[in-house]
Formats: sequence, structure tokens, C-alpha cells
Amino acid sequence: VEKEIIPDENTPEDPLAETVDRIDYSGAQVWKVSIEDVQVQRIIKRLTSDKLIESWGGNHSSLDIFIKPKALENVTAEFKNGDITYDIMIEDLQQRIDEENPPLDENELELQDRRGHRMTWKQYHRLDDIHGFLDYLAKTYPSIISVNSIGKSYEGRDLKMLRISDGKAGNKAVFIDGGIHAREWISPAVVTYFINQFAENFDVESDDIKNIDWYFLPVVNPDGYEYTHRSDRLWRKNRKYGLGISTCTGADLNRNFGYRWGGKGSSGYPCSDIYRGSGPFSEPETKAISEFFKNTAAKFSAYLTYHSYGQYLLYPWGYDNALPADHKDLDSVGNQMAEAIRKTGGSQYKVGSSSGLLYPAAGGSDDWAKSLGIKYTYTIELSDTGRYGFVLPASYIEPVARENLAALRVLASQV
Ligand code: ARG
Ligand code: ZN
Repeated sequence: VEKEIIPDENTPEDPLAETVDRIDYSGAQVWKVSIEDVQVQRIIKRLTSDKLIESWGGNHSSLDIFIKPKALENVTAEFKNGDITYDIMIEDLQQRIDEENPPLDENELELQDRRGHRMTWKQYHRLDDIHGFLDYLAKTYPSIISVNSIGKSYEGRDLKMLRISDGKAGNKAVFIDGGIHAREWISPAVVTYFINQFAENFDVESDDIKNIDWYFLPVVNPDGYEYTHRSDRLWRKNRKYGLGISTCTGADLNRNFGYRWGGKGSSGYPCSDIYRGSGPFSEPETKAISEFFKNTAAKFSAYLTYHSYGQYLLYPWGYDNALPADHKDLDSVGNQMAEAIRKTGGSQYKVGSSSGLLYPAAGGSDDWAKSLGIKYTYTIELSDTGRYGFVLPASYIEPVARENLAALRVLASQV
């Protein structure tokens, strides 16, 4: 039985306090390491279990590893001994964090004040700005846009979903979410960019766009998202805590969905970054999504979930090396989307099943959506490929969003 523990307003851990201590990543590094050699894999496994390094991502051939400053000497020596080569992608993580989200210049500040909302896509914004933007759109375009909360996060924040539709009978439906993982800031930024594009230009949009009822949930994990702004820039999970005897906080929401829950690539250990939670949909954020899908009359033909990083268009299955019966359709549309991205912005996205291209990981939202019968289900890993990783400078928001809007248009033409 899970007992909810209401945080004490006066403790420094108060999740809503603005002045919690910020984790300093000075001297921490990120390296890209080729892992084709089994020897390397062994060393990496050991360093990981000794908590000297953490995985930031990777695929079958290479891994990005995060190294704490106090482990640097040790890890460098291990790599030297094993004759392992690596590229230093990030020399000082805190420096990257400090440069990631610079203040707006005067022109932009002035613009921001003249609009009815505060979103700019020149900066990463706090949850209040994102929610304020959604509410502004609902108020401004009531005939096509509605916003409602599909539930509450663990700490009580709204899970705001925005729907855009001209109300025509016979429309298809597409569901798009972002921000499942707290630190992947580019994801809510890109999803809100899509929302802005469709909302502000709906009457001049193509029929492909207008013939779809769009459902957007830009921040699935608002507690984690705010936590990355206030305390720990690299937090991944949600913020549920006080479970059983464990003192660790959070479950990986992308291991908590109820299809083949508990399988490969997920952990039963609450301190793990890929902790699957105590059961399928044990977390309020994933539970709210499952309830929404259970109760809606909409028939979705596509489900897109935006993550970072790596530049991949991934389709099911993720739980293990297996492919859905219609994988050729998914592959073909995925490749058309990748082509649109390349033509628009020049970025290369790899297309494939997530288990095949990356690694098996059970309990993902994509697999669950596919299991509901939603045909075009993709996890999109946005930019970059590791130069900045999760700490992608805000100046990348617009180019990344623009090229991905081109991909979304391709998808809309196919559903
Ligand atoms: N980077 C994502 C994650 O690890 C990929 C998820 C792909 N989908 C899956 N069901 N494994 O959560
Ligand atoms: Zn992610």
C-alpha cells in the first residue's frame, strides 16, 4: 500500500520552494566511448556499479558517459590501462549549464510583454510560462482550442492537455506528448512550438493538418521539469517519494507504462534512474494518461512522444527485440519523416525499432500506445548527438523545432 506523504512546507526539501540548493556540476565531464569491444563493456559495467560513471545514452556501438569530478582521475586511469579511446564531449558540465539558457535581449523582452503569453522559443521556460501559454490559446481561440487538466502530478501540478480541432466529423486524431523525462528540455520546447504553429495559423494550415484532431500534452512530468529548473538540471524521473523503506525519489515514467511492464532495461531498485515504479501505472502522471485513453472517444491513429537526445525516430517494440506486424509501414513513414528533417534543417535522424537501434527497455509509453492499436507510434529522440546532450543551448530550439515540424507534416499526410 502506498501512502502519500505531504511535504512539510518549511523543510529545505519543500518542492515548491524557489531557494533549494542547486547541484553544482563543476568539473563533471561527458565522454563518448566506443563499446564494440567486450573488454570495454566489462570496465564500463564495473565503473557504473561503483557509481563512478552514469550512462547518458547510447546505442549498440557507442555510449555517452557522465563522470563525476571526483571519479575523473580513476576513470581516466582505468581507460588508459584498458587502452580505451574516448572523445571528451563536455569538459565542464556546469559551464554548459550556465550557458544553456541565457536571458532574453531587450527586444525579445519587449515582445514578450506585448503578447498575451510569455513563451518565446528563444529560451527554455518554466512550467508557469508553458501553462500560461496554453491557457492563453484556449482563451484566444475558443472555437478550435480547449485546455483541460487530465490529472495531477505527484506534487499536485496540473497535467495540462491542449486540443486543437475544427470539430469536423470524420477527423483523425493524433496524440503528442513531451517532457516524460525531466531533463530533456528541448522536448516541451518543441511540442509547444508545434502548438503555437497550428494555433496561430489554423485557418491557413493545410487540409492534412485541419483534418486531424490534435491532442498535446507538452509536459508529462511537471514536477521533474520544475525540479530540473530549481535544483538538479539532470534529473530524469518524476518526484514521487516516501515509498516503502527506500529513501530514493522518483520513478522513470518511461518504464512505468502497463505493457510488458517490468521487463528488460528497467530496474526494480528505487534509486535507479530507470526505476520502473512499484507496478504498472503506479505513478500519477502515467496513470492519468492511461485513464485519458480509457475514457476518450477519440480514435487515435498516431502517438508521438518527444525525448532527447540522439536523433532517432524509433518505433516499437521497445521491450525486446521484436517487431510489430506492420513494421514496414512504420519504417517507411519514419524514413519519410527523417528525409523531411534532413531536407529542412540538415539533421540526420536514424530510423528503426527502439530495441533494435538502441537497447531493449520495457514499460515505455510507445509500446503501450502501440498495444492499444495506435498504428503510427514513434518515440522521437531530438537533437543533438552528444555535443551538448541534454544541455542543448536554447538557440537550438527554433532550428530543431522547425525541422521536426516538417516531419510532423509528413506524418499528418500519412495518417
Ligand atoms: N531513450 C528512451 C528511454 O530510454 C527510449 C525509449 C524507447 N522506447 C522503449 N519502449 N524502449 O526511455
Ligand atoms: Zn527520454
